[in-house]
Amino acid sequence: MMGVENLRHEHNEITIMLDILEKVCGLLDAGEEIVHEHLEQLHDFMVVFVDQCHHTKEEKLLFPTLENIDGAESKKMIDMLLSEHETGRKYTKAIGETISGGGKIDPQDRANLVKYGRYYIKLLVQHIDKENNILFTMAEKKLSQEQNRKLFAEFEIVEEENIGIGKHEQLHGILHRLADIYL
Ligand SMILES: [Fe+2]
Ligand SMILES: [Fe+2]
Repeated sequence: MMGVENLRHEHNEITIMLDILEKVCGLLDAGEEIVHEHLEQLHDFMVVFVDQCHHTKEEKLLFPTLENIDGAESKKMIDMLLSEHETGRKYTKAIGETISGGGKIDPQDRANLVKYGRYYIKLLVQHIDKENNILFTMAEKKLSQEQNRKLFAEFEIVEEENIGIGKHEQLHGILHRLADIYL
């Protein structure tokens, strides 16, 4: 597999998570109760898969590789994408705080969860769109086949070191169970 192709696949998985989160925000907004474990699973996906796995592959490997190839041309775009990753981290933390109290969510936490959940969705939808249509397209043109294949090999190491063997598959399974429930 090619490195950029791997990141595009991960965007598809993240998009499924965002669709579930959107549905959950709508239900919470309507006063429905959501199984607390499901909220924890969504948050875990944001922390472990989106941030520790996907964003780390981009930040440690794809972005520096592209900057080495064409310097200033991609730098502006990459700086913007990096700052969006930072904003995503802030929203993820805020979402985590709303569900940290255990079983039941009080009205203030519920309102914040819906608010930050929707901020997060809006941010990531446009972030993924920019990467898929601008940065990744550019990367596919500029990277040689060999560079792109090497990226994938390095991604595998990041995944193993950052989230551990088997964790990706475990998160993937949880995501699809949540999709069956909410989508
Ligand atoms: Fe990104
Ligand atoms: Fe991405």
